[in-house]
Amino acid sequence: MRTTAVAHPNIALVKYWGKADPKRNIPAVGSISITLDTLTTTTSLEFDPDLDGDRFSLNGKSDSPSLHRVKHCLALFRRRGAEVPHAKVDSTNNFPTAAGLASSASGFAALVVAVNQAAGSNMARSELAGLARECSGSAARSLFGGYVELELAEDGERTETRTILQADQWPLEVVIAVTDVGPKAVGSTEGMALTERTSPYYRSWVETSTTDLAEARAAIAALDFERLAEVSEQSCLKMHAVALAARPGLLYWNGTTIDCLHQIRELRGRGTPVFFTVDAGPQVKAICEPGVTDRVRHALGQIPGVVELLSCGLGEGAAVVDP
Ligand code: PMV
Repeated sequence: MRTTAVAHPNIALVKYWGKADPKRNIPAVGSISITLDTLTTTTSLEFDPDLDGDRFSLNGKSDSPSLHRVKHCLALFRRRGAEVPHAKVDSTNNFPTAAGLASSASGFAALVVAVNQAAGSNMARSELAGLARECSGSAARSLFGGYVELELAEDGERTETRTILQADQWPLEVVIAVTDVGPKAVGSTEGMALTERTSPYYRSWVETSTTDLAEARAAIAALDFERLAEVSEQSCLKMHAVALAARPGLLYWNGTTIDCLHQIRELRGRGTPVFFTVDAGPQVKAICEPGVTDRVRHALGQIPGVVELLSCGLGEGAAVVDP
């Protein structure tokens, strides 16, 4: 029996960067994100006790570098007592993989939902989010739709993830300017570890995250675009600042990335409701109010080096679909 699940990437507005517990993958800071709609990971899973080991393919090709992460995810279910035989897992993204578009988030969100269904383990969504987080910190957020917060529990042992505002209550739109389709130079886990070890700004990055979270939460509750724009851009620039100050400095941007940031600032200065965010890669995400997407696409499309523009709205959390 094949089980298929779909999940969408999410984009953090208040960023996660740094781990409190690398072993259990507990983040050092909470985060707030939006889940996207049209970008999709579709994962099919089939248990086969006769297989000599787990198999994983990504976009039709056997993917051995990611296999150990898939195995780890299946092992987490087994450790919780779920009946999980060897599995054949096939995952497909309809967007560029591993280029700072959070494919690991949608990938692990789809995987935990598929395993839960196939194994009949009946775990609550919040528990599945915890398992997804152990595989990829940002994946917990793709279990949920709309505006999502990942909070650290007081005891530092757990995280809680939930929707704080539904997508249709504030249907912002996102334009992604792809400036490079190659895989990122330094993966997020490695980049975070280097930042923690060597960046002199790491402590203040962690300390100031709680005020950013509170402000973003308030801006979202009030549907206050300007306030969300300011706190999101600051969180993004702070994340890159702390990473830039590592040794050797982590420079995820290219020249086109910076041109896009200037263009977005200029658009907002002239009254277009749009702001930017950038993750551990060179792509720029422009978040805009409905109705201005075409203007934003047009402006970003003029910038030399922008190789592709993707548009999306806000979407739902990971779910099993009919085969
Ligand atoms: O989930 P990871 O390990 O790929 O880390 C995600 C880190 C950022 O995308 C840069 C920020 C975030 O909160 O998504």
